[in-house]
Amino acid sequence: MITTELTRSLGIEHPIIQAGMGGGSGPELAAAVSNAGALGTLASIAMRAEDVHKAVEETRKLTDRPFALNVVTFPWAPFWEEVMATALDVRPPVMTLSFGDPLPALKRCQAAGIPTIVQVQDLAGAKAALAMQPAALIVQGNEAGGHTGRRGTLSFAAQVLDLAGDVPVLLAGGIANGRGLAAAIAMGAAGVVIGTRFKATVEFGGHPLHKQAIVASDGSNTIYDEVVDLARGGLWPNGVTGRVIRSPFTDEWDGRDAELMAAVRSFERPQQFMAQYENRPEMQLNWAGESSGLVDEVLPAAEVVRRTVAHAEALLARLAGALTSR
Ligand SMILES: Cc1cc2nc3c(=O)[nH]c(=O)nc-3n(C[C@H](O)[C@H](O)[C@H](O)COP(=O)(O)O)c2cc1C
Repeated sequence: MITTELTRSLGIEHPIIQAGMGGGSGPELAAAVSNAGALGTLASIAMRAEDVHKAVEETRKLTDRPFALNVVTFPWAPFWEEVMATALDVRPPVMTLSFGDPLPALKRCQAAGIPTIVQVQDLAGAKAALAMQPAALIVQGNEAGGHTGRRGTLSFAAQVLDLAGDVPVLLAGGIANGRGLAAAIAMGAAGVVIGTRFKATVEFGGHPLHKQAIVASDGSNTIYDEVVDLARGGLWPNGVTGRVIRSPFTDEWDGRDAELMAAVRSFERPQQFMAQYENRPEMQLNWAGESSGLVDEVLPAAEVVRRTVAHAEALLARLAGALTSR
């Protein structure tokens, strides 16, 4: 067992959080991860109040272990204020907040007594969040799938670990197996957040072609490119944009920002631009990170947790054995 401040404070067995992933991390995935002893997370990015109620209720039926609800605290998530209000009402066991300005939402969650974890992408964001003593801080590096900032995970995390005091620090971005978990623990982190690896699981609600593209990737064909946001109507703030697996869509638009924006504007609403690809999964944005290169098969989520922990335990045991007195 790898026991850290995170496992102790949240009452979980393994120091792994499955990232909330818009569009596919619903009750089935969150409960499978939590039942395996890690912390599953529900995404809420495009939800309305009734969807949040339903997802939390369903997850409670599938697991009696802790799980989290992720809220993207930025108006891109069109109903995020409504989702926040509902979250405080349904009181998930844990909340995770990311993007925009998560701190006012953190304050509300803390006042409601809900253990709340904040994900940050830069040092200023980390310092501001640490000052409010969240239940844990997720340091997200640029290797990550989905939206992320520009810092690489390792040096960013090392800087934040030096500042964090007794706030548990978790690494996100580029971690998909026991090596990443062992490395995080060895550098003093309390655990990891894993997204891409859990996207290629049986329980993730995405298109099979997208999971297969992660399996097929050797890690070198992801791109971090503003095309992904421009295609949906505009840029994210604070130097954040998205990482996806390269596709005919990204190849077609890469480097043609002005033309892309004009094409998006030719529709009445920005969403209609991507909607024209609804039946063409190869043209949809496949959010995934560099750790795709570590994913060789679609697995049940519980098996991902089991293998990750077993490998990390073996590596950490070896590390302990490598220490000699002189
Ligand atoms: C498919 C996908 C969707 C994501 N959606 C969200 C989201 O809705 N909210 C959020 O805070 N982070 C989201 N992220 C980012 C994750 O929280 C996490 O930081 C990232 O996946 C970690 O890096 P990894 O993909 O290398 O494991 C998403 C990531 C992926 C891969």
